[in-house]
Amino acid sequence: MTKKLAIGMFQGGGVRQTWKVAGREDEPNFTDLDYWLDLARTCEAAGVDFLFFADSYGYPTLNESVIPTAVERNVQFSTVDPHTLISALAAVTTKLGLVTTTSTMVESPPALTRQYRSLDHFSKGRMGWNVVTGSAQAASALLFGEPLMPHDDRYAKAAEHVDLSLKFWEGCWEPDALVRDGAAGIWADTSKVHEIEHEGTYFRSKGVLVTPPSPQVTPVLFQAGASAPGRELAARYAEAVFLAAEAKALAAQIADIRRLSVQFGRGEDAVKCLIAGTFRVADSMEDAQAQHQAVIDRITDEHAATLYAYFTGIDLLALDPDKPIPMSAAGGDNGRTNIERFLGPDAPTVREVLEEFRANGVMGKPFLGTPEQIVDQAEAMIADTGADGFLVQPEFDGGHDQFFARVMPEMRRRGLLKDELTGSTLREHLFGEGKVLLPDTHPGAAYRVESALV
Ligand SMILES: Cc1cc2nc3c(=O)[nH]c(=O)nc-3n(C[C@H](O)[C@H](O)[C@H](O)COP(=O)(O)O)c2cc1C
Repeated sequence: MTKKLAIGMFQGGGVRQTWKVAGREDEPNFTDLDYWLDLARTCEAAGVDFLFFADSYGYPTLNESVIPTAVERNVQFSTVDPHTLISALAAVTTKLGLVTTTSTMVESPPALTRQYRSLDHFSKGRMGWNVVTGSAQAASALLFGEPLMPHDDRYAKAAEHVDLSLKFWEGCWEPDALVRDGAAGIWADTSKVHEIEHEGTYFRSKGVLVTPPSPQVTPVLFQAGASAPGRELAARYAEAVFLAAEAKALAAQIADIRRLSVQFGRGEDAVKCLIAGTFRVADSMEDAQAQHQAVIDRITDEHAATLYAYFTGIDLLALDPDKPIPMSAAGGDNGRTNIERFLGPDAPTVREVLEEFRANGVMGKPFLGTPEQIVDQAEAMIADTGADGFLVQPEFDGGHDQFFARVMPEMRRRGLLKDELTGSTLREHLFGEGKVLLPDTHPGAAYRVESALV
């Protein structure tokens, strides 16, 4: 049987990354709630598994100051708060999974677990948390008045954050703790509501998550950030991971995540590996290429360098364009995925990295062409990498609608998509009917407290 692909739609958290780049005069206003309500309804009607909002408190900086191009061109600059937005989207949809990012560097577990649990209630079990250590960490640290924590320590903190969050979600309330008996005046059974206690390296906490269990108990855990400690975090805790690179690098990252996931006792298929890719559908390959090129032509070197600085803290325009990025940059404390990508024996020159960022940004090569050609490319990508699906970023000009109206039917025709979403919760969409809760092999399951009476 053909593997059914998971499909998520990628939205840069209100960030219109290529604002005005595509030459549209009618660029939607991302501070207008109606725009997002329409998008969520359209995604739901198309039958995708989820809509994902990227998020970060960071923005592009160099030498501790915001880069002017970022402001002028809105390069990873202007956002709205996706958590607030999701609450509204939950009200106008019934099936669509809703996923957003919260960095483990800013919100602490008691605040984050309450927020996501509330959203899981409001959406009736459709919520996912993308766990990241945070892009543009230098800007974010300055903004919050914190020292920039070393890269690998950030991942150690992320692991402890997730661990403590799981204690709150899984360990506080037994499944039947909520009594809600108005006549007797009993809210909950005290013997079944437990305080958790945590003394760790980064967090200390004693107490209770007071929001009663939501349908999924723990939201679906996503992860993005493909450095070695990022992959380890994914293999340990994530149920789905977002990856963006060329096929060869993707295949290696996916193999590594699956190997580690087995090592951690979770099995090979515990983590859905989703390839983030740009899609441009047109009537012919030539048209698609021309439209894609028109987007690239409007992106300046300054724009591309600003985007690169956002992810890495490195100013490409200050480096020798004819040499590769110096190896000394490799151990820096900003994000590493987009530095490690361009190192090694076949390292491109700085000029080529800039070109790559103008053309594709953090994504791999785009999927271009007619619907048939795009689905051929997508099928080849799945075969070459062993991935489980896609996180789709349409290029502009009604790109979502084009993807839904033209590419998805072709995927369906080839048996690549589910006929309809499985179950009503996000975890069921990804893992099948009835799989509402974390599986027993997940480390979070170890925190469950079974009632002595059950
Ligand atoms: C598709 C995709 C989506 C991502 N979304 C976010 C996001 O919303 N917020 C964020 O801070 N990082 C996001 N990242 C990951 C950052 O790029 C990553 O946190 C950063 O590179 C630091 O991690 P690293 O050192 O492992 O690379 C995303 C990555 C990919 C591939």
